[in-house]
Amino acid sequence: MSENKFTQERLEKEIERLSQENKSLIEHLDQVEREKVEYLQNVSHQLVAPLNAIKWHIENLTAARIGIDRAKKVLKSVYSQASIAVHLAKNFNLMSNLEADHALSKLKEPLQEVTLRSLLVNLANDFQPLAWDQNIKIIVDDDMFDVKPDVWVIKPLVSQVFSNIIENAVKYSTPGSKIIIEGKYLNESDSFEVSIRNRGIALNPENTSKIFFRGFREDEAKSKYPAGTGFGLYIAKRIVEIHEGTILAKSKDGWTIFYVTLTVKGLKGKARERAKKNGFAD
Ligand SMILES: Nc1ncnc2c1ncn2[C@@H]1O[C@H](COP(=O)(O)OP(=O)(O)OP(=O)(O)O)[C@@H](O)[C@H]1O
Ligand SMILES: [Mg+2]
Repeated sequence: MSENKFTQERLEKEIERLSQENKSLIEHLDQVEREKVEYLQNVSHQLVAPLNAIKWHIENLTAARIGIDRAKKVLKSVYSQASIAVHLAKNFNLMSNLEADHALSKLKEPLQEVTLRSLLVNLANDFQPLAWDQNIKIIVDDDMFDVKPDVWVIKPLVSQVFSNIIENAVKYSTPGSKIIIEGKYLNESDSFEVSIRNRGIALNPENTSKIFFRGFREDEAKSKYPAGTGFGLYIAKRIVEIHEGTILAKSKDGWTIFYVTLTVKGLKGKARERAKKNGFAD
């Protein structure tokens, strides 16, 4: 009899343990499901941005009387924004890895040596037609931009970081103002720092970290540009973090400034490792 009781108690305990396990599995599944939805929202947000840009460019082409040279420039920007959209569509898998894991090793795209100045000049050219609408000039400051050293990064992802910041600068700038992009090598940390500044909406000092949270938008930004979703800087921060870099923002003397720091040699060894694994190391 007592043995039966003992067995029954053990069984009850086992049932209790299994039901706890079952509960936590269900919670985990719910979490995965939520992450899946968030991921899809992020991806679709990133796809909408270049498609909107193409729309604006086409409006620009049809609405204004513009010369052939400017029309060619606008078409070039349409082309590059369309390339961004195609790239994003092809990289759903890459983005899902980005959502699922912070580790660079999980991403399949190769690291490559990138000269940030060239990348930023190209992006500035892409966004300039949009900025024209508001008489805003985007300047990559030659005097304040070191050309070297290059950084080791996943180029399309890092390009996305700067697109998101420049797109914001265009959206939130006062008409007729300038967006200034500078870059310098930081000896002490062997990293390259890019700063992008614009004049317009000042960030509330309490929110300089919150603007990187998914979905967070300041009231003034919401009223100036109701259509935003608050995903751009969140995605930018995740990309910078998997590159072991830093991103931060502040407002000072009428400027809102974003700083992105990327390590110069920090990821170089990892690039070699990946190349070896793929069988194309030198
Ligand atoms: N250059 C800027 N000047 C002033 N505020 C900015 C600037 N860039 C970002 N912000 C603030 O940070 C918030 C978050 O930016 P984020 O790019 O994530 O989203 P968004 O621009 O509002 O929307 P989305 O990028 O999804 O279209 C903005 O809503 C705004 O409050
Ligand atoms: Mg944005």
